[in-house]
Amino acid sequence: MQYIIDSAHLSKIKKCVEFYPIDGVTTNPTIISKEKTDFLKLITDIKDVIGPDKMFHIQTTSSECNMIVEEAKRLREIIGENFYIKIPISADGLKATDICKKEGINVTMTAIFTQQQALIGAKAGADYVAPYINRLDSIVSDGVHVVEEIVNLFKIHDIKSKVLAASFKNIEQIHKTALVGGHAVTINPDLFENLVYHPLTLYAIDDFEKDWEGVYGNKKILDLIK
Ligand code: E4P
Repeated sequence: MQYIIDSAHLSKIKKCVEFYPIDGVTTNPTIISKEKTDFLKLITDIKDVIGPDKMFHIQTTSSECNMIVEEAKRLREIIGENFYIKIPISADGLKATDICKKEGINVTMTAIFTQQQALIGAKAGADYVAPYINRLDSIVSDGVHVVEEIVNLFKIHDIKSKVLAASFKNIEQIHKTALVGGHAVTINPDLFENLVYHPLTLYAIDDFEKDWEGVYGNKKILDLIK
């Protein structure tokens, strides 16, 4: 499963890139706006931090097909390799997806809330479709179940598009998404840290250190094998 960071916070992205096995970064207009900074500088800084091999998904701010395509083309020129234009699903968005794919631009169809939206986005050529888990859960729906059915639909119909599940608020949602075969998850950096954290892990490490120091003091392995 691919792990992607859902953020435009440069120092948090830097930390994730340095320490965690992540596959890329996703943003949306809300996430970008939170940084209250020059857009072009921000996206080029993020690209510099993540490098050429990780994906970078940037969402269009237009709703009209030609404008979406123009934004996608210009962003692709700026970002280069592994750029994905995120397009919210709509009639214009689907047409723009088809054109972008013909132009060789990767597409993530976003703001997906139903299985049929995902199927149609995939049929239009989207590389990824992005269902919003927590926003579904918040309206007494079941985000993970929607992912499960999309994954199954893609298998049944031999569709190559991947499910990039988004909008997570807890580890349980991420874990269940992995269990039902979600291909990718995008997670904010704070929640990502919680994926790694467990208090029992810290207790275990503390015990190892105490037991070692009881015999070897402050010497480390390298001190003992010179
Ligand atoms: C990512 O593609 C989505 O835009 C994002 O995960 C939405 O998350 P939210 O529901 O926390 O705003």
